[in-house]
Amino acid sequence: MRKIRTAVLISGRGSNMVSLVKASKGKNYPAQINLVISNNLDAAGLDKAKDLGIMALAIDHRDFKNRKQFEAALDAVLKEAKIELICCAGFMRVLTPWFVSRWEGRLLNIHPSLLPKYKGLNTHERALEAGDKEHGCTVHYVTAELDAGETILQSRMKVLPNDTPNSLAERLLPIEQATYPDALKLVATQIQSST
Ligand code: GRF
Repeated sequence: MRKIRTAVLISGRGSNMVSLVKASKGKNYPAQINLVISNNLDAAGLDKAKDLGIMALAIDHRDFKNRKQFEAALDAVLKEAKIELICCAGFMRVLTPWFVSRWEGRLLNIHPSLLPKYKGLNTHERALEAGDKEHGCTVHYVTAELDAGETILQSRMKVLPNDTPNSLAERLLPIEQATYPDALKLVATQIQSST
């Protein structure tokens, strides 16, 4: 079967992107990562992608007058590369309804909480403040409403008595890195069978 052409959008470290790239190199994996784009020129993930042999480039949102123009440039690069599916992975720009509607059903994100809990930022702090016994991550479709699209996969972990926001983030990261490739596999397989 043909692998689905996929882009990963990042803003920083890019460890989830690396796990997607590594998974996608598997012979029977249904997606390939063709392109990594960062909105931040200094993102460490750009070099990590290049080291893995993936085309990686920055489109600095500050070079554009407004969000729409930035997204139009992003969209043009994605279309030029014949991208069919996008994974946001630590991509710190809110996308407008214009962009989201162009990629409806083809735009995924990973969020470090058990959505619908803790949309937005500081999810680890908020889980601790609420006294939650469980925390986790969610891969979901991106819709115009922030962190509110349909869930594709969720993974859970226990919150321990001495956990801090940092310890939660640290323990959750490898879980995220395992969950995202599984979620991408599900979606890419669906696209393969529908096209
Ligand atoms: C992850 O925790 C992700 O859930 C959140 O930002 C972090 C990105 O980490 N949205 P990385 O850039 O993939 O290492």
